[in-house]
Amino acid sequence: MLIARSIADLRQALTPNRRPAFVPTMGNLHEGHIALVRQAQPLGDVTVASIFVNRLQFLPHEDFDSYPRTWEADCAKLQAAGCDVLFAPREADLYPEPQTFKVHPDPRLADMLEGHFRPGFFVGVSTVVMKLFACVLGATGGVAVFGKKDYQQLMVIRHMVRQFALPIEIVAGETCRAADGLALSSRNGYLSLEERQEAVALSQALKRLAQQWLDASDRSALEAQAQDALRARGWAPDYLTVRRRADLLPATADDAAGTLVALGAARLGNTRLIDNLEF
Ligand code: PAF
Repeated sequence: MLIARSIADLRQALTPNRRPAFVPTMGNLHEGHIALVRQAQPLGDVTVASIFVNRLQFLPHEDFDSYPRTWEADCAKLQAAGCDVLFAPREADLYPEPQTFKVHPDPRLADMLEGHFRPGFFVGVSTVVMKLFACVLGATGGVAVFGKKDYQQLMVIRHMVRQFALPIEIVAGETCRAADGLALSSRNGYLSLEERQEAVALSQALKRLAQQWLDASDRSALEAQAQDALRARGWAPDYLTVRRRADLLPATADDAAGTLVALGAARLGNTRLIDNLEF
């Protein structure tokens, strides 16, 4: 596996006649990331992963400084998975000057849910992804694989690619889960043993909410009840909600099963977890 620590190194490593299949990450790789790399492999001529902890998508009080950085282990996992090129730019290389030119996604999609609770998050994500796309896929176009675990992020990126007519196909990867159903996430590493056992309650709450949604004739109180149930277990929920997959707007009585997604974000101790379930 070739490791490019700068944009110049990356450009040397990529050749115009080989279309990359690209998996952007912030490192601290787990089986969910590796599954995306494996999914990407047959979709391009060269498999490229990136590791870059993007300061722009963290709020000042969030975990940018403590975000787990596990360089050696990440390299070993990518190498074992058959990744061809790892792009891991230094901050001074990707952002040599303050990044004042930013990508602002459509607020109707980006200011709700995650964007409501983490203002500016999707500006930071869209800006770095646009820049990573320019570095990795700018010369050739290609494919990029994003996990469904970050459901709204996937939709924002799809919208960005469509509106800027980028020659990039966005492919979605299914969420990888631990045996008990907890969605794999780098932030699971923050959980204490006791919290780790409790953490599965988020995916269980989403499953229950989806089932109740399908069974109930009056759905008005279901989301609040789902949040209350988590609160009673010691969580601090930001949202548990049923939305339309097409635009993430609140689901209506006309929206049929098969077009919906239950999304949740909640804090357990100091750890904020997100998850979702299509139904
Ligand atoms: O999902 C992530 O890990 C990040 O948001 C991404 C897409 C790599 C951008 O920093």
